[in-house]
Amino acid sequence: MLRLLAASLLVTYTLAATAAEWRNRTIYQLITDRFATTDNSGPRCWTEERQYCGGTWKGIISKLDYIQDLGFDAIWISPVVANVEGDTVYGQAYHGYWTQDFYSLNSHFGTADDLKALSAALHDRSMYLMVDVAPNHMVSRTNPPDYPSFSPFSSASDFHPECYIDWTNQTDVEQCRLGDRNVPLADLNTEDEDVAATLYAWIRDLVGEYGIDGLRIDAARHVRKEFWPGFVEAAGVFTLGEVWHPDPNFLAPYTKVMDSVLDFPNRITLTDAFRNDHGDLAALAASMRKSQGLYEMAGAFLECHDEPRFPSVTQDEALIKNAMAWVFVQDGIPILYYGQEQGYTGGADPANREALWYSGYVVEDKPLVTHVRTLNAARRLAAAANSSFLTSPAKLYAVSQSTLAISKPPLLALLTNVGSWSSASTTWDFPDASYEANEVLVDVLSCSTVTADSSGGVLVHASCGAPQILLPASALSGSGSFCPHLAAQGLISSTLGGIRANALANGLDDAQAFFAQ
Ligand SMILES: *[C@@H]1O[C@H](CO)[C@@H](O)[C@H](O)[C@H]1NC(C)=O
Ligand SMILES: *[C@@H]1O[C@H](CO)[C@@H](O)[C@H](O)[C@H]1NC(C)=O
Ligand SMILES: *[C@@H]1O[C@H](CO)[C@@H](O)[C@H](O)[C@H]1NC(C)=O
Repeated sequence: MLRLLAASLLVTYTLAATAAEWRNRTIYQLITDRFATTDNSGPRCWTEERQYCGGTWKGIISKLDYIQDLGFDAIWISPVVANVEGDTVYGQAYHGYWTQDFYSLNSHFGTADDLKALSAALHDRSMYLMVDVAPNHMVSRTNPPDYPSFSPFSSASDFHPECYIDWTNQTDVEQCRLGDRNVPLADLNTEDEDVAATLYAWIRDLVGEYGIDGLRIDAARHVRKEFWPGFVEAAGVFTLGEVWHPDPNFLAPYTKVMDSVLDFPNRITLTDAFRNDHGDLAALAASMRKSQGLYEMAGAFLECHDEPRFPSVTQDEALIKNAMAWVFVQDGIPILYYGQEQGYTGGADPANREALWYSGYVVEDKPLVTHVRTLNAARRLAAAANSSFLTSPAKLYAVSQSTLAISKPPLLALLTNVGSWSSASTTWDFPDASYEANEVLVDVLSCSTVTADSSGGVLVHASCGAPQILLPASALSGSGSFCPHLAAQGLISSTLGGIRANALANGLDDAQAFFAQ
């Protein structure tokens, strides 16, 4: 059954990245098959067909400028190992989650040298590589599964007996199969010591061979918790687990056996809060407070490959910009799913897995591209200005159904769900904001300014439902990437008046065009 593992792998990379080193990063999640092709061609890619479209690791290398220009310093790519070939009733394994051979690479995405070149190209830019791994199951086109076609687990005894999950029973969740009889996701017997040891050896080899800096762990709640510490230790790099559940109490124990989890509870309340002007920001605030008390580190996101994209819920640009902003002003590691910056609108899987080449990777005159750049830059600047920024929990103020102020000094984010067309007078009233008396604050999303009152409080009026991200003008000085026309003037108030008038006269888009050259 268990094949002896080749012990000759040379470890080519020794700088394992820890959780502390990932904390100040922001991650761009992409589907390898859908992000970029090797020759930069734009083949037909109809999501509903669920076929390989042609994206490769070399394609990613050719578009690292695009990702870096958006302000990201890490990418999360699809699983890299060989998957089941050919068609099933659910299409092909273009997403990479249907492992057939843990020790071979998915040749649709390239060669071992290509993957190493991607890792090296990222490291040359001081960027990190996060690889998705799926150790819970292996996939066959037939049922019963074709065990001999699997490697290295080629015997039925390496797997749990066939059963399908009763979601109310955690033993079932861990030991029965995801999926169905059409495409059986044969559940590895991770209670078996040999199976566990083989998976630990595999992850150690994979991380070392390809210079991987972090792992996103698929279906982490479907493996017993006791399995994970050994896996995490063998990996030796940062781990981010997928534990799908709406309740932070359910997620919390997983943060004791791996570095962090994807923040599904807040994603759910985030989507509900901004889906329309009846959403509830107080519920989002309550959800944030609850998770703050339960776990320290999570990966925060609005969209991912398993959920409908947010613009399939609402097309209101103000609501979209508010929901996107939340991801960059909360405590966890911000993650952006590729295509969000291009305003992609795909609904549930497979519609949310569009080819990015259809966008032409154009960044000019793309309001959400500008938005993402600014959000990344604002977070970076605030973290650089305050060494506690990344480790101190956000404080929440002005909490109502339609307003929420998130304070992570020196950054103050003002969110609202009234929408673009609201005529209501919406304000965030935050008398205890603790800025200096009469301090000048800049909304980096519009380059307009707000002045704190004589006791350091702020009272800000919403404009067309847009979010605002305030930073003290003093913190922007010397930062060339922000409202450079403001910074260049040393932010003296007489100059500011003129700049503000200029920004107003030219409209927000023009002001935003100054960012992140
Ligand atoms: C993250 O922190 C490290 C040192 O702790 C620093 O070298 C790096 O520049 C920081 N990155 C960002 C994006 O702030
Ligand atoms: C959960 O499922 C397991 C095995 O499938 C079974 O032995 C156990 O009795 C179930 N527990 C409950 C509470 O139903
Ligand atoms: C830095 O952040 C901490 C925690 O949020 C806060 O208490 C402190 O006032 C901040 N300092 C500055 C200078 O903004």
